[in-house]
Amino acid sequence: MNRRNMVYEGKAKILYEGPEPGTLIQYFKDDATAFNKKKTGTLSGKGVINNHISEHIFKALTDIGIPNHFIERMSMREQLIKAVEIIPVEVIVRNIAAGTLSKRLGIEEGTPLPRPLVEYCFKSDELDDPLIAEDHILTFGWANDWELEDMTHLALRVNDFLSGMFAGIGIKLVDFKLEFGRLYEGEEVITLLADEISPDGCRLWDMETGEKMDKDRFRRDLGGEMEAYAEVARRLGILPSADVKDLSSHRKG
Ligand code: CDP
Repeated sequence: MNRRNMVYEGKAKILYEGPEPGTLIQYFKDDATAFNKKKTGTLSGKGVINNHISEHIFKALTDIGIPNHFIERMSMREQLIKAVEIIPVEVIVRNIAAGTLSKRLGIEEGTPLPRPLVEYCFKSDELDDPLIAEDHILTFGWANDWELEDMTHLALRVNDFLSGMFAGIGIKLVDFKLEFGRLYEGEEVITLLADEISPDGCRLWDMETGEKMDKDRFRRDLGGEMEAYAEVARRLGILPSADVKDLSSHRKG
């Protein structure tokens, strides 16, 4: 891994130059952060599990025609992706009230929403990813009107698909965050789903017990993070022998 040229290091992932122009390698770390890095930690094996869960989901989204950056998984912690220009807007879709929505509006956590709610945040660590309105996105040119329409429309399709996929394995998809990028192809600019989809960026509740199976275990000091992530992977039919202790051994290289 050290041979590769690093392009960017984020909180949970590193991007390296890819083997071909227009490609990147996305490397999944075990680092965990919450509340914009105010809480940090290491969850041994998280990178391996998230790489596999994200691969599974992006492949399924490709199959239903959602344009995205995923090309192929290369190793336990790496995937090859298309290089895109990231749109600095996080798109959050919610089905059940939780987290900042509950705090902000005083809606009890666990209250089902009458329709999926799409929210947008400006991607800025310095500003703590503030909630913004569609008009901010257009006023400040973070995306144009058709990109905003693409992002919203794709986010709702992803929500429909993932809600059903998770319901099929006894999990409620409470909410999740998506990121999108621009791909320049000749005259055309295409909006692609980018980043990752994993329990780091979703709220997942067991349907029977209500148990949290996502990063809230880390945020709220509940413990058992990796067992929960591995259980999500197991129910999805990936990493069938996911023994969390074995995964941490898949280090760099
Ligand atoms: O996660 P938190 O309570 O800070 O914020 P939220 O607005 O309630 O988050 C909604 C969903 O988006 C949760 O599933 C978060 O895990 C995810 N999210 C994320 O992955 N990254 C962010 N910067 C913000 C939210």
